[in-house]
Amino acid sequence: MCGIIGYAGNRNAVPVIVDGLKKLEYRGYDSAGIAVFGADGFDVVKQKGRLAALESRLEGSVIAGNVGIGHTRWATHGEPSDVNSHPHVGSKSKIAIVHNGIIENYKRLKERLERKGVRFVSQTDSEVIAQLAEYYYKGDLMDTVIKVSGALEGSYALGIMCLDEPDLLVAVRKDNPLIVGVAEHGNFIASDVPAVLKHTNKVYYLEDGEIAVLTKDGADFLNMDKEPLKKRLETVSWSFDSAEKGGYPHFMLKEIMEQPKVLKDTIHSVMSNGENKSVADGLDISAFDKIVITACGSAYNAGVVAKYVFERLCRVSVEVELASEFRYKDAVIDGKTLVILVSQSGETADTIAAMREAKSKGAVTLSIVNVIGSTIAKEADYCLLTSAGPEIAVATTKAFSAQLVLLYVLAARFAVKLGKLPPESFAELMSEFETLPDKAKEIFEHIDLIQKHASECVVCKSIFFIGRNIDYAIALEGSLKLKEISYIHSEAYAGGELKHGTISLIEEDTLVVAISNCKRLYGKIMSNVEQVISRGAKVLLIGCCPEAEPSSYDGKLSYIGLPEITELFSPSLSVIVLQLFSYYVAANKGLDIDKPRNLAKSVTVE
Ligand code: F6R
Repeated sequence: MCGIIGYAGNRNAVPVIVDGLKKLEYRGYDSAGIAVFGADGFDVVKQKGRLAALESRLEGSVIAGNVGIGHTRWATHGEPSDVNSHPHVGSKSKIAIVHNGIIENYKRLKERLERKGVRFVSQTDSEVIAQLAEYYYKGDLMDTVIKVSGALEGSYALGIMCLDEPDLLVAVRKDNPLIVGVAEHGNFIASDVPAVLKHTNKVYYLEDGEIAVLTKDGADFLNMDKEPLKKRLETVSWSFDSAEKGGYPHFMLKEIMEQPKVLKDTIHSVMSNGENKSVADGLDISAFDKIVITACGSAYNAGVVAKYVFERLCRVSVEVELASEFRYKDAVIDGKTLVILVSQSGETADTIAAMREAKSKGAVTLSIVNVIGSTIAKEADYCLLTSAGPEIAVATTKAFSAQLVLLYVLAARFAVKLGKLPPESFAELMSEFETLPDKAKEIFEHIDLIQKHASECVVCKSIFFIGRNIDYAIALEGSLKLKEISYIHSEAYAGGELKHGTISLIEEDTLVVAISNCKRLYGKIMSNVEQVISRGAKVLLIGCCPEAEPSSYDGKLSYIGLPEITELFSPSLSVIVLQLFSYYVAANKGLDIDKPRNLAKSVTVE
């Protein structure tokens, strides 16, 4: 987590960096800071709290310079405070750094430096980088960066400035993302592309062990032997507008509303000739005797939905594993296992580790990723890219929907290859699939109703989500979305599981959200609805259930109807209602929806 940015150019770096930090705040918002070269050395301003607090501090300040670095923090080592904020400057005031990652051997390095008389001021692991760089510096910043990189254990993306070489901005990475953006007025380093989109869509993706050396005139790349590297300048297709709120009060709402288009674009990416289609077509599923899907958070929930779809269509058994568990469990996999990694950012530490573990055991890896050039996109044997565009809100919405789409198509294509789905049925399924974007749009007609139900939930202490089969899978996502942005406790249960314990939590007026799209299980989920209503619960039923009769439940049952679609694709519609529901609950509570407390979007630490 944490976002870093740096600029070397013709403009004043201060507003350029602050503006870029706004696009990185999703990576952490415990504190923010900036450093530029001033007339008498580094000018550093850092402030606990949101970026807005730093902006207020900078208002009226006269600091300015053409080279600078900035940081937005998700605290790991040391509480959120001014002193623990980045940039960190060494005690000789010679080197300033911003860091994203974790330095695992910082204690050892710190003790070594302290024995040599270096005085530390913060509790962070990151300060050791600035102090060590000053200790090693003998007049050549590149030599210093190489030496520091050799000494650090853990993960890092670093932006480094040195007082004696004021025109340079140096960057290096290991296991954390870093891009270099090239604009007419100057050059950038950043943790992610949206931070530079206002200025350029031309970027280099820095790899582990590569050093970028930026001046206002250009960017050079070196390896750890100081040999020059030739890197490919890439053009990013994301537009500047796609990383702006565009009139919506929150990115999350904008991203929810973008879903019909995202579904359309992602369907197109895998149905028409192109990279995604050739990857999906090219995989020989008969070469595998096992499929494992591994991911974290919502991406894991997409995997749970996919398990139902794969097993139904392909008749192969699929395991879904949390990446944080998979990486340490000594999984029973080999060259005949296909491991599917799902990740919006492509940088989630646990998912990266799961991928590397799978590869080390000879499994074939396929990633489903939103961010081009990310570690998982690059390192997996095969990659399918979701066409969600930049997702800024911490709670994922549109990227989740795009992941589902690619997983559906993959399952359907595999089923055809395995002879489990006749080509005519595949064609039928795909034509239904292509109706998804329009049906997703229809859901927005119910926004007032969703908003009304959400406004009644502001006082809830706990909300339960139930469903059966694929509806249970999407209930998991509904529950996660609600708790992360509204701070209301919530759990998702398979309908049949309620009576094995959870039903004891149901009290007068407890809200249960029941999802029902599996026609063959409608009677079963309605029995669960009856069971909770008879114990005092109120139920919000979401699904395609024309037979639902809310009037016969004495005001205890409300219903939000969904357009009809095959059960297998129904999670894509249910989830939009669930996302909007969570959004409006949080909005009614007046919460900071795009930046929920304690969270960050790209979880690059364990
Ligand atoms: C929830 C959410 C997280 C992510 C998880 C994985 O709304 O956004 O649970 O899904 O941190 O992140 P990625 O997909 O980037 O690997």
